Amino acid sequence: MLKNKGFFISFEGGDGTGKSTQAKIFYKWILENFDKKAVLTFEPGDSDFGREIRELVMHRKSPTQKDQITAKTQALLFASDRSYHIDNIILPALEQGKTVITDRYFDSSVAYQGDVGGLDDKSIYNLNMFASDGLIPDITFLIDRDINKALPQAKKTTGKKYDRFEDKNLAYHKQIRQKYLELANKKGSFAKRWCVIDGSGTIAEVNKKIIEAFLLKIKEIKSNNIV
Ligand code: TYD
Repeated sequence: MLKNKGFFISFEGGDGTGKSTQAKIFYKWILENFDKKAVLTFEPGDSDFGREIRELVMHRKSPTQKDQITAKTQALLFASDRSYHIDNIILPALEQGKTVITDRYFDSSVAYQGDVGGLDDKSIYNLNMFASDGLIPDITFLIDRDINKALPQAKKTTGKKYDRFEDKNLAYHKQIRQKYLELANKKGSFAKRWCVIDGSGTIAEVNKKIIEAFLLKIKEIKSNNIV
């Protein structure tokens, strides 16, 4: 938490893990129990500018269209969406002392566009430090779930448009899951922000685990005198 600023919380996880549902329910809890002015937002695309980038990066006209958008192009588009998102939504709210919850943030870029996406984690991390001016969440919830169960849910959410991310195979989704676990378990100064949540179980059960982890984390942060 930046001095005199609101709490910054991100939700991360693979496609179809229930992450967005959990972010919404947790937001409701935060409004009722922690900060009634809290803001819920998401990436990619939670702004007019972001929506256009989202269209560019997420969809192509048909599954057979030759894909010209490389991992590097995607990474740059996601990073510019993020930079705009921070300047126009995240930072103004944090500066007013509001809690901000974002459904995906730069760890998504490291997980998807880094080593797994054919680039490398370090370059993507550095690109995102530039895009975000080093704005790191206070808490990052990783919703971790067995991908065999997660995939059908991801498929169901696919609308009419062809979604280049949800089209990937099971092996790819397993790689994303492993990458997230690797990021969350990394040693280092920012490692403490991660809370790995077992995403199996009912929506209410997972929500309970998130709230418990949040209360512990808050206690930990307060006792370290960071807040
Ligand atoms: P979205 O429809 O928002 O789904 P989800 O509910 O899984 O968040 O799709 C976001 C997709 O974009 C998802 O497959 C992950 C991908 N993505 C990246 O590859 N890099 C990024 O930086 C972000 C924010 C998302």
